Amino acid sequence: MLKVVVLISGTGSNLRALLDEASAPDFPAQVIAVGADREAAGFGHAEAYGIPTFLVPWEQFDSREAWGEELAAQLDVWQPDLVVLSGLMRLLPAGLVDRWAPHIINTHPAYLPEFPGAHGVRDALAAGAAQTGASVIVVDNGVDSGPILAQERVPVLDGDDENRLHERIKPVERRLLIDVVRRVATGDLDLAAASTSL
Ligand code: GRF
Repeated sequence: MLKVVVLISGTGSNLRALLDEASAPDFPAQVIAVGADREAAGFGHAEAYGIPTFLVPWEQFDSREAWGEELAAQLDVWQPDLVVLSGLMRLLPAGLVDRWAPHIINTHPAYLPEFPGAHGVRDALAAGAAQTGASVIVVDNGVDSGPILAQERVPVLDGDDENRLHERIKPVERRLLIDVVRRVATGDLDLAAASTSL
């Protein structure tokens, strides 16, 4: 059974979908803990499933590196096989990425390399794109620049605003994330090989 730690900042709807899926007896991965950089609403989903949570509050540290050291210490406690960033709205310090890569993945609400960064949905709308998408990537030390593991297009529709478009992208993100976690767990997807060959 693949042991997964999920890191969030927000509502955790993608986390919830993964937890729902992982509750099926035949799902080959298990979420063993959920962490966040703030008191995230998504902790409620972990609690609903009796999964432990941990908080590494961003504002209580003097630097990204100091915050990252505490986060790294928490991950070392849990020793996951895979770390999933699911809406964690912080860049990780290089040392932490180097420690976990390629066993650290991120979901992103755009068709990378298009529209990286914290406002991928807003940026796609601002650019007048006819389509955007969702991606799952291996985290590297750039901004949403790691090897792409899965992605799918989502059309931009007349009348879309940021919220409406994001709410149509998220179900695609969830499906891609669940599929990637399943494939990593079954050995169908080798993250180390994917990181060098993609
Ligand atoms: C997702 O679209 C994620 O890719 C982005 O933030 C959203 C998280 O949503 N960075 P939720 O917290 O899972 O509802």
